[in-house]
Amino acid sequence: MNNILFVLSSPRGWKSYSHQFAGHIVDDLKARHPGAKVVVRDVAKEPLPHVGEAFGTGRVLPPEKRSPAEAKALALSDALVDELAAADVVVLAAPMYNFGLPSSLKAWIDHIVRPGRTFSYSEKGPEGLLKGKKAVVVVARGGVYSEGAAKQLDFQESYLRAVLGFIGITNVHVVRVEGVAMGEEALKNAMASAKAQSEEVAREFA
Ligand SMILES: Cc1cc2nc3c(=O)[nH]c(=O)nc-3n(C[C@H](O)[C@H](O)[C@H](O)COP(=O)(O)O)c2cc1C
Repeated sequence: MNNILFVLSSPRGWKSYSHQFAGHIVDDLKARHPGAKVVVRDVAKEPLPHVGEAFGTGRVLPPEKRSPAEAKALALSDALVDELAAADVVVLAAPMYNFGLPSSLKAWIDHIVRPGRTFSYSEKGPEGLLKGKKAVVVVARGGVYSEGAAKQLDFQESYLRAVLGFIGITNVHVVRVEGVAMGEEALKNAMASAKAQSEEVAREFA
């Protein structure tokens, strides 16, 4: 393992549960692979622009056919795709906001899901181009979505799995920190469960 990409999206810094557990996983990976380089992409601290018109038209053109505005719009996206493509493991920390992702993380996704760069289309349908990578996704939620009535409202984990799979990253481990807003006992259980899940992920990478 040479490169780890650590994508953070909670504005709460180290108070964030997704940040804390994802951070432990990165530390553990780093301890097992001391030579690995960790690249941190904190989309809460350094928000990415929403994609606009020039991005939309430029993304389907070869670089030499792009207008200066399209080339400019695609330059940041290219850098983000390069960063992701260089990673062997992606560790992604995601709070649940309104049953889905914070818009800061969605903006990152809009930049990295790119025809010709991270997926292709052919007569066989879409194909993810970022094969052979592993991902660890740490999701934090106030409520519980892995079981029970709210399961159908989880557009966070299901969406992240779908979008990572679409670009070819199908080896995805998920750590859920859930029920953190449901009282002291539920928070204690959420922490213990997330710790156990993180240890299981660490064993997978051993
Ligand atoms: C804007 C906003 C929207 C939220 N929406 C949800 C939600 O739909 N479901 C839920 O269970 N928790 C929701 N929460 C609670 C967060 O998911 C919870 O506080 C989580 O710990 C945030 O992740 P973090 O600790 O990594 O910052 C929301 C919090 C905020 C600030």
